[in-house]
Amino acid sequence: MRVRRATIDDAMAIHDVLQRCGTEGTLAPTEPALADIERFLRSKSAGAFIIARDGRDAGVAMFDRQGDVLWLFRLGVVPDARGRGAGRMLVDAVEAGARGAGASAVFVQLPKALAARTFFEALGYRADTEEPDVVAGQPVTLVDLVKLV
Ligand SMILES: CC(C)(COP(=O)(O)OP(=O)(O)OC[C@H]1O[C@@H](n2cnc3c(N)ncnc32)[C@H](O)[C@@H]1OP(=O)(O)O)[C@@H](O)C(=O)NCCC(=O)NCCS
Repeated sequence: MRVRRATIDDAMAIHDVLQRCGTEGTLAPTEPALADIERFLRSKSAGAFIIARDGRDAGVAMFDRQGDVLWLFRLGVVPDARGRGAGRMLVDAVEAGARGAGASAVFVQLPKALAARTFFEALGYRADTEEPDVVAGQPVTLVDLVKLV
């Protein structure tokens, strides 16, 4: 498996991977539109990593720098590539990028009950704050997980 830093030319590839991942684990009710991904990749503070398996793009991690910390916005590995270390490699790449950019921590916000919380805890993330919110009309408890890098 190979991880690469996304360029603006990867917007369609990211769109395709996120569509294959579906909306599981997302806080938004729909996948981001191609134009939103392009805008994200053009932003100075934001970026993404893509992982390919057997020559096919199979996962993405999108991040945005906010002050001294980096927020991991969207992490997704396509269903048939899960459980083989791709998610861990993407998070490793984001953390290395955060360190390289001088950030002190990586944050990620998840619905409290999401299975991926266990994944992040296995990678050293710990709950920071918890707050009730409403997502797509449904009440949900959101938890911010953090790892110092
Ligand atoms: C969460 C997700 C990215 C994990 O990707 P993955 O490639 O399957 O994860 P990895 O194979 O790198 O697993 C890394 C470790 O976490 C563990 N793990 C993975 N998914 C897990 C889960 N759902 N629950 C508990 N542990 C999990 C693995 O056992 C592994 O531990 P190990 O290295 O000690 O064996 C993937 O399941 C996914 O895309 N889910 C849907 C989207 C989502 O929920 N994204 C997170 C919110 S942004």
